[in-house]
Amino acid sequence: MGYKDIYAAWQADPEKFWMDAAQPIAWHKPPSKALFDKGEHMFEWYADGMVNTCYNAVDRHVEAGRGDQTAIIYDSPITHTKREISFFELRNRVASLAGALRAKGVEKGDRVIIYMPMVPEALEAMLACARIGAIHSVVFGGFASSELAVRIDDAKPKAIIAASCGLEPGRVVHYKPLLDGAIDQAEHKPEFCVIFQREQEVAQLVEGRDVNWHGFQYGVEPAECVPVEGNHPAYILYTSGTTGQPKGVVRHTAGHLVALNWSMKNIYNVDPGDVFWAASDVGWVVGHSYICYGPLIHGNTTIVFEGKPVGTPDAGTFWRVISEHKVRSFFTAPTAFRAVKREDPKGELVGKYDLSCLNAIYLAGERADPDTIEWTQRTTGKPVYDHWWQTETGWTIAGNPVGIEPLPVKLGSPTVAMPGYDVQILDEGGNPMPKGELGAIAIKLPLPPGTLPTLWNAEPRYRKSYLEHFPGYYETGDAGMIDEDGYLYIMARTDDVINVAGHRLSTGAMEEVLASHTDVAECAVIGVGDTLKGQLPMGFLCLNAGTNKPHDEVVKECVGLVREKIGPVAAFKLACVVDRLPKTRSGKILRATMVSIADGKAYKMPATIDDPAILDEITEALAALGYPQNAA
Ligand code: COA
Ligand code: AMP
Repeated sequence: MGYKDIYAAWQADPEKFWMDAAQPIAWHKPPSKALFDKGEHMFEWYADGMVNTCYNAVDRHVEAGRGDQTAIIYDSPITHTKREISFFELRNRVASLAGALRAKGVEKGDRVIIYMPMVPEALEAMLACARIGAIHSVVFGGFASSELAVRIDDAKPKAIIAASCGLEPGRVVHYKPLLDGAIDQAEHKPEFCVIFQREQEVAQLVEGRDVNWHGFQYGVEPAECVPVEGNHPAYILYTSGTTGQPKGVVRHTAGHLVALNWSMKNIYNVDPGDVFWAASDVGWVVGHSYICYGPLIHGNTTIVFEGKPVGTPDAGTFWRVISEHKVRSFFTAPTAFRAVKREDPKGELVGKYDLSCLNAIYLAGERADPDTIEWTQRTTGKPVYDHWWQTETGWTIAGNPVGIEPLPVKLGSPTVAMPGYDVQILDEGGNPMPKGELGAIAIKLPLPPGTLPTLWNAEPRYRKSYLEHFPGYYETGDAGMIDEDGYLYIMARTDDVINVAGHRLSTGAMEEVLASHTDVAECAVIGVGDTLKGQLPMGFLCLNAGTNKPHDEVVKECVGLVREKIGPVAAFKLACVVDRLPKTRSGKILRATMVSIADGKAYKMPATIDDPAILDEITEALAALGYPQNAA
C-alpha cells in the first residue's frame, strides 16, 4: 500500500489503524481499545493497557536473543572516547540503577529530574526511571540555574540525577554548582541527588543529600520492570511558551511506545538492527524520541554523540561518525549543516569517508532552507527529507513517509501529514482556508498517540494555549499553507516563540529577564534572521529617566543577565538602547514591524501605529548593530 492508501485507511478507521500499530508492542495487559475520549476535547490512548517502556526498549530485545547487539554507541570527539553498550549490558546497568533509585524510595509516579550531558548514562537514567514507573524530566545542560529551579518547583522531583560536568568545546560546564544553585533557589527540595562523576571534573558532594552514581548502586537488588497504565506519564519535558514559565509537556506511556515504534520504519525507514543517529541532545524532544526511546524501542542501535558539527575536530565529524558506525538514517537540524557548509563550502571533507551505508538524511527543528537542503543533497549524494513536528507532538506531524514510499521532495515543504494528523489551515475565525492560502496551522482533535494529552499540573493552561482559539482543533502555533498536492509549508510562528540553532526559545522569557534590570524601564525582544542559526534574539531597551550609566554598560549587563538567568543557549548577544518602542495606539509593541526592518523586508506602515517617527529610530539602532545584514 502506498502513502495515500495508508492515510485513507487511518481516516476510515482510526481505531483499527492504531490497534494494529499497537501490535508490535509487548503489553503486560493489552488495551481494550485505542482511543479514550474523556470529553471536553481531552483524549488518551490505550489507557487501560498495562505496559512498561523500559521492557520494550531494552529487556524484550535481550529476551528475543538480541542481547549481544549494540544498543548504544557513545562517540565523544570532545573526550576522545568511543564505547559500545550491548542490549544485555544496558539491561543490567539500567536494572541496577533502577534498583538503587527504588532502594532510596523512588516509586511509580515520583518525579526525577535528569540534568546530564551527552553520555550514555543520561539514557540509562531515563530508562531506569521508566523501569520503575518514575516520571523523568530531563533538563538541557545549556540552561542556567534559575531555569533548572523553575523546573524543580514545577515538577517537584523526589530525586535529581546529574553529572559532575558537561563539556563544550574549550569549556567545562560545571553542572554541580549550577545544580546546587538551582536547589538553593527552588522552594521544593529533592530528597537526594545522584551525581555521576566524570573524569574531567569530580564534583564536591553535599553530605546527607548527594550520593555517588556508582556507590549508591553497590549491593542493591536490580529492579524488574513495573507495568504501568497506558496513560501513566512516561515523562515531562519543559518547552518554551510565550512567558518565562515553561510548559511541562506530558507524554503518556503507551501512545509514546506505539507512535515512536511506528515512526522508525514508516518515516525513518530503518529495520531492527540498523544504526540510527539523531545528532541532537537528550535535553530536547529530538533527544527523547530519537536518541533514546524510538531507536531502542524499535531494536535499533542509537548513537550518543558528544560533539558539535564543526570544531570537534572539524566539519567532517558527521561524515566520520556515519561511516565509522554504519549509520543508515541520520537526523539533525538544518543549522548543523549550515555550520558544516560554512567551514567546508565545497563539501570536500565528505569525500574522505565512505558513506555507502547511509540511506537518507532527515532535518527538523526549524525551517529547512532550500539552500541547505540542496547543498547537503549535492555534497552527500543522499536524499534529504525535511519533516515538521514539535515538542508537544513528540513525533512527525508532516514528513516524507519514506518507509512506506518516498514521495517527491518539494523544496520548502516538509511534505505531507502523517496518518493520525488531520492538518488544516484556518483563518482567524477558525474557517478552513482554500488551498495555497496562508493561515494558522491547526490539527483536528484528537491528536494521535504519542502526542501531549495535557500540561503537567496545568490543564487550564493546556486548554488556553492549544484548544481555545480554534474549538475542536489543536493550535500548533505555526502558520503556513497546504498546496494542491496536499504538501504542507511552514512559514512562521504565530506567537513570540523563536528558533535559535534549532532551539526553541521564548522572547517573552527574555523580556522578563531584561525588565528585571534596574535601569530598564521597558523592553522588547525580537527574533532576527541569521544565516547560521536561523534566528537570533535581539533586545531593545528603554532606560529609566535619569539613568546616566553609559548605554554600552547597560547592554553588557543585560547580555550577562540573560546568560545568567536563562543560560548560554539563549545566545542573547545583540541589544541596543532606544528612546521609545514602536507601539499601536492601544500600547501593543509592534514586534513584527521591527522584525521586518531588521530582516530588510518590505513592510506596511501599521495603520494603528502611535508615532511612525519611532520606526526611524529603530532603523538607525538596527543599522548600528549591522542589520539588515545584507544592506549595502
Ligand atoms: N551545555 C552548556 N552549554 C551549552 C550547551 C550545553 N549542552 N549547548 C550549547 N551550549 C552553549 C554553547 O557553548 C554556546 O555558548 P557560548 O555563548 O559560550 O559560545 C551557547 O550555548 C549557544 O549555543 P549554540 O546556539 O548551540 O551555538 P554554538 O555556536 O555553540 O553552536 C551549532 C552552533 C550550529 C554548531 C549548534 O547549535 C548545533 O550543533 N546545532 C545543532 C542543532 C541541534 O542540536 N538542535 C537541537 C534540536 S534538533
Ligand atoms: P520544538 O518544540 O523545539 O521542536 O520546536 C517546534 C517548532 O519548531 C515548530 O512549532 C516550528 O515552529 C519549528 N519547526 C520544527 N520543525 C520544523 C520544520 N521542519 N520546518 C519549519 N519549522 C519547523
